[in-house]
Amino acid sequence: MNTQIVNINLSHCNYGIFINEKLFDFSAVAHLLNNRKIAIISNETVAPLYLEPLTQSLQEYNATVQSLILKDGEQYKNQTSWNLILDFLADNNFNRSDLLISLGGGVICDMTGFAAASWMRGIDFIQVPTSLLAQVDASVGGKTGINHSKGKNLIGAFHQPLAVIINASTLKTLPEREFKSGLGETLKYGFINQPRFKQWLQEHSKAIVGLNLPLICQLIAKCCKYKKEIVQQDEKESGIRALLNLGHTFAHAIETYTHYKEYTHGEAVAIGMVMAAQLSVNLGVANDNLRKELEKHLQDFNLLTKLPKTINATKLVELMRLDKKVVNSSHRLILLKSIGNAFIQNNVCEKDILQTILSCQH
Ligand code: NAD
Ligand code: GLY
Repeated sequence: MNTQIVNINLSHCNYGIFINEKLFDFSAVAHLLNNRKIAIISNETVAPLYLEPLTQSLQEYNATVQSLILKDGEQYKNQTSWNLILDFLADNNFNRSDLLISLGGGVICDMTGFAAASWMRGIDFIQVPTSLLAQVDASVGGKTGINHSKGKNLIGAFHQPLAVIINASTLKTLPEREFKSGLGETLKYGFINQPRFKQWLQEHSKAIVGLNLPLICQLIAKCCKYKKEIVQQDEKESGIRALLNLGHTFAHAIETYTHYKEYTHGEAVAIGMVMAAQLSVNLGVANDNLRKELEKHLQDFNLLTKLPKTINATKLVELMRLDKKVVNSSHRLILLKSIGNAFIQNNVCEKDILQTILSCQH
């Protein structure tokens, strides 16, 4: 099957997302690799699986390749790991002509991107995402960053990659739970502004869950195109890009509250999208059926839709105060008029948020 290409065109740069079924096909970006000094940043789970084939495939470009292996897990997406990357770059004399390559899921993609954004005020990087979530969302659009102990993704920068190389065959080793978690972020596009995509997902659900790679490549290309349409209009999230955060304000609070140990990002986003739907109903902007309808789509892919009562809803609301969308102490959330019709709602009061969380617990 041919490589599918999604081009991102921004005012200051353009780059391609190259999607196919092969393992580490860099043929489309050979000109970016020739004779370069490269640091691959990966983790202790993904490196044993893919570091060697990736390093091998870079040999044909006469590149000098070194690698740094970090601990695996969202709880390590922090200043310590980011510093380890910077120390590695310093110890090995990396400079502005050199290149970073991320090899891993969204955590590695975000941290590598942020190290590239900060080292010498910005060096080149290429994303090689290996989880579904990173392939459909995290590696695209230039948001890079790490978590702060007070909240998720609070430290970061916008820094666009030189290219994104998506080789879907890496998904063969992705644990089922992580695959499902990535499906949560794909459904997000259907809920925001692509109602027909949600239907497409339903029609192809068997093939998707069965990891039919040609179809998965189509799925990834569709998501990258949907994301591109938004990012090209609003690279730095001064408006419409915030829609991509549907469910995320709730999700980030859930992840912070549980110390990144109980829910994957995609699971927390799925629950957060249900909360956004319920809040839309409570505020009278959506029809009473919206939450049920949205839950049904998530459940079709066996995604969680509720939080246990043991989680303190008041604490979640407090954690939401540190969300990046908060403006002048007022909560700004992404709500839904209907499935496929998301909008930004300012001045949401905490009483309504609390009530919504409580009604999404069991
Ligand atoms: P992750 O990076 O933790 O990966 C999930 C797990 O799968 C990890 O254990 C990882 O090592 C493992 N893994 C990845 N690829 C594998 C493979 N091919 N085979 C076997 N194991 C593999 O989590 P994620 O769900 O990929 O990404 C979530 C992160 O992405 C969050 O930190 C989130 O904030 C971020 N994110 C960023 C953006 C953005 O625009 N920058 C968008 C969405 C999410
Ligand atoms: N994942 C949200 C964004 O990229 O804006």
